[in-house]
Amino acid sequence: MTQWLEKINSAESLEVLENLRVETLGKKGVITAQFAKMKDIPGPEKKEFAANLNKQKAEIIEALETKKIVLEKEALEAKLKADKIDVTRFNNELSCGAVHPVALTMDRIIEYFQNLNFAVEEGPLVEDDFHNFEALNLPKYHPARDMQDTFYNKDYTLLRTHTSPTQIRTMLNQPTPIRMIAPGTVFRRDFDLTHTPMFHQIEALVVDEADKISFANLKHVLVEFLHHMFGDVDVRFRPSFFPFTEPSAEVDISCVFCKGDGCRVCSHTGWLEVLGCGVVDQNVFKAVGYENKSGYAFGLGVERFAMLIHNIGDLRSLFESDIRLLGQFK
Ligand code: PHE
Repeated sequence: MTQWLEKINSAESLEVLENLRVETLGKKGVITAQFAKMKDIPGPEKKEFAANLNKQKAEIIEALETKKIVLEKEALEAKLKADKIDVTRFNNELSCGAVHPVALTMDRIIEYFQNLNFAVEEGPLVEDDFHNFEALNLPKYHPARDMQDTFYNKDYTLLRTHTSPTQIRTMLNQPTPIRMIAPGTVFRRDFDLTHTPMFHQIEALVVDEADKISFANLKHVLVEFLHHMFGDVDVRFRPSFFPFTEPSAEVDISCVFCKGDGCRVCSHTGWLEVLGCGVVDQNVFKAVGYENKSGYAFGLGVERFAMLIHNIGDLRSLFESDIRLLGQFK
């Protein structure tokens, strides 16, 4: 029996100890086997045999329990030691994030106009028909509404198709003169190489007394702005149509900022359309209760600017969260 007690005391792991428990006290264990012999022992000796056996059993149980506590403590200490976190260790694989190219471009444009004293206004993404269309001289059932494929909600609200409703909200809330930009997210039912259902625009609106603001003012501000963003490009104004401006124009820049084989963004004409603009239509002023005012407005797509500035060929790559693209903007 001392031999079993020695084995128990020198057990090296909890598994070894468990095996020893089975070999001694288990169904086929040595102690259990001794108990089975009891029936063959003659009456007078039975009592002594039983007492002896119970003593041995108790000794083994005690040895097992004592050793178990010791081994469990050792196992816990070993685990804690292995799991220890070295907070002083320097991790030179730490990588930090980067500002998304769309946000970067948005910030640059906002900063430019803030320096020219334009206020930054924001409006809701869920708009109503009045602000998104009606007040912008787009009456119900007018075919010009087809220019913007709209997400309508069941309650007759809609996801704004442009940032122009912020013009209306600002004019309804503020006295003239107004000099504002409205950056933000817009939505259209459109999806292909050059369109995503969610994108970003920056709107601008300047309003003052009648005859104070002209197309010439608009042209000057835009040419300066485009030179700031794209360097020494040619800028041309093409007659166009927007219901909320009259006259209206689309503005193109020449392709000089990006030439050669690596250029993904230039068109074969050598011109790239970058924004829409015009002199505010008097019907818009009427809708907000303004009289004897003049103004100009323009709106641009931020993704388009980001693609041109950074030579990004596919609009959709701006929304794929691919770390290889985003990592280039650190
Ligand atoms: N809201 C127009 C669009 O989304 C852009 C624009 C804004 C044009 C202001 C003229 C004046 O296409």
